[in-house]
Amino acid sequence: MNKLVSLTRNFSSSSSLNAIKTVTVIGGGLMGSGIAQVAAQAGQNVTIVDLKPELLENAQKSIQNNLRRVGKKTFKDDAAKIENFVKESTSRINTSTKVEDGVNADLIIEAIVEKLDVKQELFNKLDQLAPEHTILATNTSSISINAIGAGIKRKDRYGGLHFFNPVPVMRLLEVIKGDQISEATYQTLMEWGKSIGKTCITCKDTPGFVVNRLLGPYSAEAIRLYERGDASAQDIDVGMKLGAGLPMGPLELADFTGLDLKKAILEVMLEKTGHPVFKPIPLLNQLVSEGKYGRKTGEGFYKYNK
Ligand code: NAI
Repeated sequence: MNKLVSLTRNFSSSSSLNAIKTVTVIGGGLMGSGIAQVAAQAGQNVTIVDLKPELLENAQKSIQNNLRRVGKKTFKDDAAKIENFVKESTSRINTSTKVEDGVNADLIIEAIVEKLDVKQELFNKLDQLAPEHTILATNTSSISINAIGAGIKRKDRYGGLHFFNPVPVMRLLEVIKGDQISEATYQTLMEWGKSIGKTCITCKDTPGFVVNRLLGPYSAEAIRLYERGDASAQDIDVGMKLGAGLPMGPLELADFTGLDLKKAILEVMLEKTGHPVFKPIPLLNQLVSEGKYGRKTGEGFYKYNK
């Protein structure tokens, strides 16, 4: 296992061809604010663009809270060092409601709503406004990156950067190769991922990329096992934790990431692959229709104190 990780690291550590110093993140929600945080923490200048000032304020608050948590972990009880770390990192972050204010960057990462036409419109605009050298990337989790970038001219300077939630905690970054990405852009994205502390893996533009393609069927089968009454939720989760060495069981994980998201991903994967493992699961649909989305609503496969 360690060997594999170190191989992956070596693979992603080729010499920097085009170091990224300034990053713009479009969309300051759950993912965008996490991406902005890790880039700022790594010493890069970041601009966050979102639709309304209050959304940007929320993003800044959540980043500050998370930075304080990172600071406490890193500097233990040294309050001055923690404050300094938070101050320095946040001072590298600017915000704006105008895309135009974010186009002068080495790398622009899109983390807006998961809708093809909205993303296409944004990328066409970015392609026109951004300087020649700027690399454009999407954090889409379920849409084809080639489809999102279909209208842009700089297809050689375009790719996917698929982060995992919560971004500051999850160590993986999937670097997705569009059909026309250049080797220099690909290497720059791998190098950038490394610079923000992630381990990068590479995947072609295929539904679910690596992690969600494999996690989807596993998770769907766990829900079906429970739905049929073959085993209790606890036994399924304990089984996979102790028997397969996973940190969380599949139903706990589904509750953590959200059952609404799980349902949406299954629908997209069924549409894209036609594979029967992604067919609708009545129990999942029922929980979602009852507003039981998991941890965030207080109930999913388990009940939680809100
Ligand atoms: P979110 O709903 O928390 O944030 C999206 C943000 O984008 C919102 O603040 C919204 O105001 C803003 N936005 C929407 N349209 C915009 C536009 N035209 N210009 C500027 N800002 C705009 O969503 P989340 O969860 O952060 O997801 C964002 C993207 O990341 C989606 O493509 C999603 O599929 C992808 N993703 C999500 C993961 C997750 O676990 N939530 C994991 C990996 C990728």
